[in-house]
Amino acid sequence: MNIDRSLIEKLKSSRSVIFFTGAGISAESGIPTFRGKDGIWNKLKPEELANFDAFIRNPDMVWEWYNHRKLIIHNSQPNKGHLTIAEMQNHFDEVTVITQNIDNLHSRAGSKNIFELHGNIERNYCVNCKRFYNKELDFSNGVPKCECGGLIRPDVVWFGEYLPDDQFKGSEKASMNTDIFFIVGTSAVVYPAAGLVFTAKQSGAVLVEINLVKTEISSSVDYSFFGEAGTILPNILEAYESSIVS
Ligand code: APR
Repeated sequence: MNIDRSLIEKLKSSRSVIFFTGAGISAESGIPTFRGKDGIWNKLKPEELANFDAFIRNPDMVWEWYNHRKLIIHNSQPNKGHLTIAEMQNHFDEVTVITQNIDNLHSRAGSKNIFELHGNIERNYCVNCKRFYNKELDFSNGVPKCECGGLIRPDVVWFGEYLPDDQFKGSEKASMNTDIFFIVGTSAVVYPAAGLVFTAKQSGAVLVEINLVKTEISSSVDYSFFGEAGTILPNILEAYESSIVS
């Protein structure tokens, strides 16, 4: 695969690199995406599974679904895409991951500096007192309850909910101070997360998109790579590495 020389030159003069990722980067690990062919939302209704009222109405059903997703995630491994991003930490002063994924695979791949915009499926908290329960939950008596009597929910951001303030503010600040902003495996239709693309662009960052197909933001990026992230990211790193030794 031919990687545009000018992108390699930009990488060579970069101090800070951001990877803004979506479900597409975990697709090659066997975790289904949300939209597009075989997307979860083609089969299931987000309004019945990924919002607070639905949880209160039917916590058993929502938990059944999250426990199913957790099982898939626990049986998955980080793929070459996640691993290459972690590897990039050895080449740049600052590598930041801003992810919409709740699957923990960037952390399992070895990435250190991660903002989780939509939460993490490994964490849970009480809807009443907000106390966290991060150990494996016991469902033998139905949906687990907090000592205060409140229902325990997964620490993921549902439709209509605010993003965690510290994660979003940290992502915005990083996006305003970066040289290169990679957009990997996201349809970039969910806001405010997708807005970070334009925050980075307005701050002068070079935008690089990696996706199987064109997306809502393709016309705004500087470089587009159409294909699998698990193939393209290693190719970009290889081209960069061979340019710094020669
Ligand atoms: N490599 C690169 N891109 C891929 C790959 C792959 N192997 N497989 C799929 N893609 C692309 C698809 O073409 C699509 O554009 O990844 C994108 C996945 O988009 P979505 O399914 O919409 O997922 P995402 O953008 O992460 O969704 C955002 O929506 O449902 C909510 O909270 C959920 O965080 C999620 C948010």
